[in-house]
Amino acid sequence: MSMGLVTIFPVDGLPEITAGAELAGLIADAGPRLADGDILVITSKIVSKAEGRVVQVDREQAIDAESVRVVARRGPTRIVETRHGLVLAAAGVDASNTPPGTVVLLPEDPDGSARRLRKALMDRLGVRIGVLITDTLGRPWRAGQTDAAIGAAGVAPLRDYRGTPDTFGVALEVSVAAVADELAGAADLVKGKAAGIPVAVVRGLADLVTEADGPGAQALIRPAAEDMFRYGSADVLAARRTVRDFTGDPVDPAAVTRAVAAAITAPAPHHSTPWRFAVLESAAARTALLDDMLAAWIADLRGDGFTEDQIARRVRRGVPLRRAPLLIVPCLYAEAAHRYPDDRRNAAEREMFLVAMGAAVQNLLVALAVEGLGSCWVSSTMFCRPVVTKALGLPPGWEPMGAVGVGHPAAPAPDRPPRDPSAFTVTR
Ligand SMILES: Cc1cc2nc3c(=O)[nH]c(=O)nc-3n(C[C@H](O)[C@H](O)[C@H](O)COP(=O)(O)O)c2cc1C
Repeated sequence: MSMGLVTIFPVDGLPEITAGAELAGLIADAGPRLADGDILVITSKIVSKAEGRVVQVDREQAIDAESVRVVARRGPTRIVETRHGLVLAAAGVDASNTPPGTVVLLPEDPDGSARRLRKALMDRLGVRIGVLITDTLGRPWRAGQTDAAIGAAGVAPLRDYRGTPDTFGVALEVSVAAVADELAGAADLVKGKAAGIPVAVVRGLADLVTEADGPGAQALIRPAAEDMFRYGSADVLAARRTVRDFTGDPVDPAAVTRAVAAAITAPAPHHSTPWRFAVLESAAARTALLDDMLAAWIADLRGDGFTEDQIARRVRRGVPLRRAPLLIVPCLYAEAAHRYPDDRRNAAEREMFLVAMGAAVQNLLVALAVEGLGSCWVSSTMFCRPVVTKALGLPPGWEPMGAVGVGHPAAPAPDRPPRDPSAFTVTR
């Protein structure tokens, strides 16, 4: 790799870009002559404008339309995931530097835009260059914004150093440089909004320019399965869904321990800690429990007078727990409950502990979802507590509160039905 001088120069003299503008021609005419190995870094705003992505709609509606997921929200500010997979403020919808009443959307397909612009410039100028399309992003744990590549063609977006030795000869384990973002940030030093210069050229890093268009900036989007910060503060609760089908993959016991740790942060009456959990890791324990419960359920149904056919149909509902590779039986341990001389207050006291149990189980399920685990909270153990107590050898005072099947979801959860908070609320 060459380690020579790198220069970054602005391409000034571009006219105001409007829909249909032929960017390649305008850039070729405006800038200093592009040379082999140059990397052209262009602000997405003018790509959007040239592609007619200026629309006359309300900004909030435009953000809704461009978003697939709200990651975080505070007041009117929304951090969302766009259709492209980018996570950024306001879906990249921009109301600045555009006529009042209009907003600029990100390019429909920034990698496609980069490829087209690259081809047009290379055809016109006969040089091999790379093209990056950038947008300005904030970063979750860092103040200020910097530019990042949202489209790329002919530039290797990532440089993988994994396996290569460090200065002490030890193999690097995680180093993958996001060179396309580094180039975007560097180019912003000479272009930038304030300077009003939307295009810059980075010269001296020809090693990063590839013959093929390459994977594009899509390669910079971290796959959901590798994303440790998948859920933001706005969508973490919605991440929990009842999952009744699981893959055969085992559940990491450490993830369950972390979820139990989250569960036991729930609110509870009298500063008590009325939650206990039986974790059934072994198939033998799960099967023994479910078989005993099934027998108890069938006995109940026979007692109700159902026919054997009807019973067979009903007990099929017990299947979700059978499919789960791990079960957790949440138990209420209500010894801290106060005792009153009357039923009314005793009943209220009991309800306090029950709702505290619900809060803990909700914490458990949400924490499992954050770990990428699906869960279903099924009521059945509540209907045959003595059977469960015996099958699991539960300590005295542990009252089973259903059972939670845990595993890796076999399929993504369906969309959540929309619910209007006002239909659930009275305001006085
Ligand atoms: C106390 C309780 C008991 C439940 N029992 C069952 C059950 O026996 N079988 C089942 O399939 N789902 C059971 N569920 C899950 C609900 O069906 C599920 O929460 C509901 O369909 C809403 O879907 P969601 O959890 O994805 O929002 C139970 C939920 C709660 C809170």
